[in-house]
Amino acid sequence: MSEPAVGILISGAGSNMLALVEAMQTGEVPARPAIVVSNDPQAAGLAKASALGVPTAVVDHRASKGDREAFDAAVNAKLREAGAEIVACAGFMRIMTPVLTGAWAGRMLNIHPSLLPLFKGLGTHARALEAGVCVHGATVHEVTQELDSGAILGQAAIPVLPGDTAQTLAARVLEREHVLYPRVLTAFIRDPEAARQTPIAIFPDP
Ligand code: GAR
Repeated sequence: MSEPAVGILISGAGSNMLALVEAMQTGEVPARPAIVVSNDPQAAGLAKASALGVPTAVVDHRASKGDREAFDAAVNAKLREAGAEIVACAGFMRIMTPVLTGAWAGRMLNIHPSLLPLFKGLGTHARALEAGVCVHGATVHEVTQELDSGAILGQAAIPVLPGDTAQTLAARVLEREHVLYPRVLTAFIRDPEAARQTPIAIFPDP
Protein backbone atom coordinates (compact mmCIF):
# COMPACT_ATOMS: atom_id res chain seq x y z
CA MET A 1 0.00 0.00 0.00
CA SER A 2 1.74 3.22 -1.07
CA GLU A 3 0.83 6.54 0.56
CA PRO A 4 -2.44 5.32 2.08
CA ALA A 5 -4.94 7.73 3.61
CA VAL A 6 -4.95 7.43 7.41
CA GLY A 7 -7.93 8.22 9.62
CA ILE A 8 -6.99 9.12 13.20
CA LEU A 9 -9.33 8.71 16.17
CA ILE A 10 -8.78 10.88 19.26
CA SER A 11 -10.53 11.84 22.48
CA GLY A 12 -8.26 14.45 24.06
CA ALA A 13 -4.99 16.32 23.76
CA GLY A 14 -4.02 14.61 20.53
CA SER A 15 -0.26 14.65 21.01
CA ASN A 16 0.09 11.24 19.36
CA MET A 17 -2.14 12.40 16.51
CA LEU A 18 0.14 15.41 16.12
CA ALA A 19 3.24 13.21 16.04
CA LEU A 20 1.64 11.05 13.32
CA VAL A 21 0.40 13.97 11.21
CA GLU A 22 3.73 15.78 11.42
CA ALA A 23 5.58 12.59 10.47
CA MET A 24 3.26 12.17 7.46
CA GLN A 25 3.75 15.79 6.45
CA THR A 26 7.54 15.56 6.62
CA GLY A 27 7.47 12.29 4.67
CA GLU A 28 8.82 10.18 7.53
CA VAL A 29 5.59 8.17 7.39
CA PRO A 30 4.62 7.32 3.78
CA ALA A 31 0.95 8.21 4.17
CA ARG A 32 -1.40 11.19 4.23
CA PRO A 33 -3.76 12.20 7.02
CA ALA A 34 -7.34 11.86 5.73
CA ILE A 35 -9.31 12.96 8.78
CA VAL A 36 -9.15 13.30 12.56
CA VAL A 37 -12.33 12.16 14.31
CA SER A 38 -13.06 12.87 17.98
CA ASN A 39 -15.86 11.58 20.18
CA ASP A 40 -15.50 14.72 22.30
CA PRO A 41 -16.26 18.13 20.80
CA GLN A 42 -13.96 19.71 23.43
CA ALA A 43 -10.93 17.60 22.50
CA ALA A 44 -7.94 19.93 22.25
CA GLY A 45 -6.53 17.81 19.44
CA LEU A 46 -9.23 19.00 17.03
CA ALA A 47 -7.82 22.53 16.81
CA LYS A 48 -4.28 21.16 16.51
CA ALA A 49 -5.34 18.99 13.55
CA SER A 50 -7.10 21.93 11.90
CA ALA A 51 -4.00 24.07 12.36
CA LEU A 52 -2.07 21.48 10.35
CA GLY A 53 -4.70 21.53 7.63
CA VAL A 54 -6.21 18.14 8.44
CA PRO A 55 -10.01 17.81 8.12
CA THR A 56 -11.75 17.06 11.42
CA ALA A 57 -15.08 15.63 12.49
CA VAL A 58 -16.85 15.14 15.80
CA VAL A 59 -19.12 12.20 16.59
CA ASP A 60 -20.28 13.01 20.11
CA HIS A 61 -20.76 9.67 21.88
CA ARG A 62 -23.32 11.28 24.21
CA ALA A 63 -25.66 11.74 21.24
CA SER A 64 -25.89 7.95 20.81
CA LYS A 65 -27.24 7.51 24.36
CA GLY A 66 -25.29 4.35 25.18
CA ASP A 67 -25.87 2.78 21.76
CA ARG A 68 -22.27 1.84 21.03
CA GLU A 69 -23.10 0.32 17.64
CA ALA A 70 -24.77 3.53 16.47
CA PHE A 71 -21.78 5.57 17.63
CA ASP A 72 -19.35 3.22 15.89
CA ALA A 73 -21.40 3.30 12.68
CA ALA A 74 -21.27 7.11 12.69
CA VAL A 75 -17.49 7.10 13.23
CA ASN A 76 -17.10 4.51 10.48
CA ALA A 77 -19.13 6.70 8.11
CA LYS A 78 -16.79 9.66 8.77
CA LEU A 79 -13.76 7.49 8.08
CA ARG A 80 -15.24 6.11 4.86
CA GLU A 81 -16.38 9.52 3.60
CA ALA A 82 -12.84 10.80 4.11
CA GLY A 83 -11.42 7.89 2.12
CA ALA A 84 -9.43 6.41 4.99
CA GLU A 85 -7.63 3.16 4.25
CA ILE A 86 -5.92 2.67 7.62
CA VAL A 87 -7.12 3.84 11.04
CA ALA A 88 -4.81 4.90 13.87
CA CYS A 89 -6.39 5.18 17.32
CA ALA A 90 -4.42 7.85 19.18
CA GLY A 91 -5.77 8.35 22.69
CA PHE A 92 -9.26 7.25 21.58
CA MET A 93 -10.94 6.40 24.85
CA ARG A 94 -14.00 4.47 23.67
CA ILE A 95 -14.68 0.74 23.84
CA MET A 96 -15.34 -0.28 20.24
CA THR A 97 -17.86 -2.82 18.97
CA PRO A 98 -17.42 -5.13 15.97
CA VAL A 99 -19.11 -2.40 13.90
CA LEU A 100 -15.73 -0.63 13.96
CA THR A 101 -13.25 -3.37 14.82
CA GLY A 102 -14.76 -5.71 12.22
CA ALA A 103 -14.91 -3.04 9.53
CA TRP A 104 -11.23 -2.22 10.01
CA ALA A 105 -9.84 -5.65 10.93
CA GLY A 106 -6.20 -5.83 9.88
CA ARG A 107 -6.14 -2.09 9.16
CA MET A 108 -6.59 -0.50 12.59
CA LEU A 109 -3.80 0.26 15.07
CA ASN A 110 -3.87 1.55 18.64
CA ILE A 111 -1.30 2.93 21.06
CA HIS A 112 -1.58 1.85 24.67
CA PRO A 113 0.46 3.30 27.56
CA SER A 114 1.89 0.07 28.98
CA LEU A 115 4.02 -2.86 27.92
CA LEU A 116 1.18 -5.17 26.90
CA PRO A 117 -0.01 -7.68 27.91
CA LEU A 118 0.61 -5.97 31.25
CA PHE A 119 -1.88 -3.33 32.41
CA LYS A 120 -4.66 -3.44 29.86
CA GLY A 121 -7.36 -0.82 30.32
CA LEU A 122 -7.10 2.42 32.25
CA GLY A 123 -4.77 3.81 34.94
CA THR A 124 -1.73 2.04 33.53
CA HIS A 125 0.95 4.25 35.11
CA ALA A 126 -0.45 4.06 38.64
CA ARG A 127 -0.88 0.32 38.25
CA ALA A 128 2.72 -0.08 37.05
CA LEU A 129 3.93 1.77 40.15
CA GLU A 130 1.63 -0.25 42.38
CA ALA A 131 2.95 -3.50 40.86
CA GLY A 132 6.55 -2.43 41.52
CA VAL A 133 7.80 -3.00 37.97
CA CYS A 134 11.11 -1.34 37.12
CA VAL A 135 10.49 -1.22 33.36
CA HIS A 136 7.39 0.39 31.86
CA GLY A 137 6.48 1.78 28.44
CA ALA A 138 4.03 1.82 25.57
CA THR A 139 2.76 -0.58 22.92
CA VAL A 140 1.37 -0.16 19.42
CA HIS A 141 -0.85 -3.10 18.52
CA GLU A 142 -3.49 -4.13 16.06
CA VAL A 143 -7.05 -3.58 17.21
CA THR A 144 -9.23 -6.65 17.62
CA GLN A 145 -12.52 -7.07 19.43
CA GLU A 146 -10.73 -8.00 22.65
CA LEU A 147 -9.54 -4.87 24.45
CA ASP A 148 -5.79 -4.10 24.14
CA SER A 149 -5.10 -7.62 22.86
CA GLY A 150 -4.27 -7.57 19.13
CA ALA A 151 -0.89 -8.42 17.65
CA ILE A 152 1.92 -6.36 19.15
CA LEU A 153 3.61 -4.29 16.42
CA GLY A 154 6.07 -2.35 18.58
CA GLN A 155 7.01 -1.44 22.12
CA ALA A 156 9.06 1.33 23.69
CA ALA A 157 10.45 0.77 27.17
CA ILE A 158 11.54 3.21 29.86
CA PRO A 159 12.97 2.65 33.34
CA VAL A 160 10.81 3.38 36.36
CA LEU A 161 12.90 5.74 38.48
CA PRO A 162 12.94 6.28 42.24
CA GLY A 163 10.40 8.97 43.11
CA ASP A 164 8.35 8.46 39.94
CA THR A 165 4.67 9.32 40.16
CA ALA A 166 1.94 8.33 37.73
CA GLN A 167 2.33 11.81 36.24
CA THR A 168 6.10 11.69 35.73
CA LEU A 169 5.84 8.19 34.29
CA ALA A 170 3.02 9.24 31.96
CA ALA A 171 5.07 12.16 30.65
CA ARG A 172 8.15 10.01 29.95
CA VAL A 173 6.09 7.26 28.34
CA LEU A 174 4.21 9.79 26.18
CA GLU A 175 7.48 11.20 24.86
CA ARG A 176 8.45 7.67 23.73
CA GLU A 177 4.98 7.10 22.25
CA HIS A 178 5.65 9.96 19.86
CA VAL A 179 8.76 8.15 18.59
CA LEU A 180 7.23 4.68 18.54
CA TYR A 181 3.94 5.32 16.76
CA PRO A 182 5.30 6.89 13.53
CA ARG A 183 7.93 4.16 13.26
CA VAL A 184 5.39 1.37 13.69
CA LEU A 185 2.90 2.96 11.31
CA THR A 186 5.63 3.22 8.67
CA ALA A 187 6.56 -0.44 9.07
CA PHE A 188 2.89 -1.46 8.96
CA ILE A 189 2.25 0.50 5.77
CA ARG A 190 5.31 -0.97 4.08
CA ASP A 191 4.48 -4.58 4.94
CA PRO A 192 1.79 -5.46 7.52
CA GLU A 193 2.78 -9.11 7.72
CA ALA A 194 6.46 -8.29 8.27
CA ALA A 195 5.41 -5.72 10.91
CA ARG A 196 3.49 -8.47 12.73
CA GLN A 197 6.36 -10.93 12.48
CA THR A 198 9.06 -8.46 13.55
CA PRO A 199 7.72 -5.93 16.06
CA ILE A 200 9.82 -2.79 16.63
CA ALA A 201 11.52 -2.65 20.04
CA ILE A 202 12.77 0.69 21.35
CA PHE A 203 14.92 0.53 24.45
CA PRO A 204 16.03 3.43 26.67
CA ASP A 205 19.45 4.88 26.06
CA PRO A 206 21.94 3.07 28.32
C1 GAR B 1 -1.63 8.36 25.41
O1 GAR B 1 -0.78 8.11 26.50
C2 GAR B 1 -2.17 7.04 24.87
O2 GAR B 1 -1.25 6.00 24.92
C3 GAR B 1 -3.30 6.79 25.83
O3 GAR B 1 -3.90 8.05 26.02
C4 GAR B 1 -2.90 9.07 25.87
C5 GAR B 1 -3.41 10.05 24.84
O4 GAR B 1 -2.58 11.17 24.76
N1 GAR B 1 -4.23 5.85 25.28
C6 GAR B 1 -4.96 5.03 26.03
O5 GAR B 1 -4.94 5.03 27.24
C7 GAR B 1 -5.86 4.10 25.23
N2 GAR B 1 -6.47 3.16 26.10
P1 GAR B 1 -2.66 12.11 23.47
O6 GAR B 1 -4.14 12.48 23.30
O7 GAR B 1 -1.84 13.29 23.86
O8 GAR B 1 -2.12 11.35 22.32
